[in-house]
Amino acid sequence: MKLTRRGFAGAVAAAGFTEFAFAQRANIGGAAPKDTVWLNANEFPDGPPAAAITAMQRVIGESNRYHYREFNDFYKAIAASEGLKGDQVLIGAGSSEVLHSAVDVFTSPTRPFITCWPTFEAGPELAAVEGHKVVKLPLSSSYASDVKKLVAEAEKAGGGLIYICNPNNPTGAITTKQDLAWTVENLPKNTTLLVDEAYLHFNVSPDTESAMKYVHQGKDVIVMRTFSKIYGMAGLRAGFVAARPDLIAKLEPYRNNVISIVAVRAVLAALDLGPKMIDERRQKIARTRGELCAWLKEKKISYIDPQANFMMVDAKRDIKQMAPALLAKGVAVGRPFPPYNTMMRVTIGTDADMAKFRGALSETLSV
Ligand SMILES: Cc1ncc(COP(=O)(O)O)c(C=O)c1O
Repeated sequence: MKLTRRGFAGAVAAAGFTEFAFAQRANIGGAAPKDTVWLNANEFPDGPPAAAITAMQRVIGESNRYHYREFNDFYKAIAASEGLKGDQVLIGAGSSEVLHSAVDVFTSPTRPFITCWPTFEAGPELAAVEGHKVVKLPLSSSYASDVKKLVAEAEKAGGGLIYICNPNNPTGAITTKQDLAWTVENLPKNTTLLVDEAYLHFNVSPDTESAMKYVHQGKDVIVMRTFSKIYGMAGLRAGFVAARPDLIAKLEPYRNNVISIVAVRAVLAALDLGPKMIDERRQKIARTRGELCAWLKEKKISYIDPQANFMMVDAKRDIKQMAPALLAKGVAVGRPFPPYNTMMRVTIGTDADMAKFRGALSETLSV
C-alpha cells in the first residue's frame, strides 16, 4: 500500500495502530519542501544517545537470531529502572502495543474507555473499532483531564478504563498530583486507571508527578511509558506498561510480537546512562520551549502553558488553512485538534527548527 494523498483523502477513519493509521493522523495536506522541519509528531530532535547507537551497531550482525534468552534480563532491567520486579512490567513494540492490550482487556461493549478529549487518539479509536464503548469528556479549564468527570462516568458505567494522558497530548497541560491522588482514592469498582506518561520526562512543574508510586502501592493503576520521545527512539519501537503482577498477567496474552533485538540493546544502553541523560535532554527542551514562549508573548500570540516537548499555539485562524500554509514554507506542524480549531500543536525541535518556525509564523500572521 502506497501512502498517496489520494490514499489519505479516501481512507476511512484511522483505526488504531498501523503505520498507515499513524501517517493518516499526522497528515496535514500539501507537498513538503525538501528541507522541511518536522514539528508535527512530537519526536525528539536528536537521535538516540551515542551509547545506544554503538550498542545497535554491535548487534546488527547478530540479528539473524531472535535472542529470546535475553528477554528475561530485558524485563528485569526495565523493571529495575523503576524499582519494580520483572513481573510488574510488560514491554511492547512501542507503548502503542501495550496500550492496545489494555484496551482489549479492560474495555468492552459495556465497560467504556473513558477519557477527556482531545487526547492521544489511538486508545479511543481502537476501542471504538472493537465495538467497545467510548466516553469522551471535555478537558478541564486548564486543558487537562477533568478527573471528577472521569470518575463519575466510571461510576455510572459500573466500571471501565479511565485514560489520563499526563502531560496531555495535544494540549501539553498537566494533571496535578492532587488530582491523580484523588482519582486513585476514588476509583469506582471494576475500574482501572491508565496513566500515559509518554511525555512526563519533559515536565518541569512541581505540580505533577509520576503515577508510578501507585503501581508500587499495588493500586488498580497502569502506568505507560515509551522510549519514543525523550530517548529519541521513535523508529525503534519500544515502550512498556508497569502495573501489579495480576494486571500484567491479564495484559500479557494480548501482546502481539517480540521486540527487535536492535531496540532491546539500544534501550539497555540508554538505561545504563542513568537519569543524567534524561535530565540533560529535559533541560535542553525546556530551554528551547521557554524561548519560544517568550517570543510568543512578545508577539502577543497566546498559547497553553506547556510541560511536554510540544505546545499548543493559538493562531486565531483555522489550522486547516494555517498548517498547509506553514508546510509550503517548510514547517510541518500538527494537524487540527477539534474543538481547538485555531490552535496548532508544535513540537519543540532544535534551535534552528524553532527559528524557522518563528520566521514562517511571523510571515503567515504578519506579526
Ligand atoms: C500520548 C502518547 N502515548 C503514546 C504514544 C505512542 O508512542 P509509541 O508507540 O511510539 O511508544 C504517543 C505517540 O505519539 C503519544 O503521543
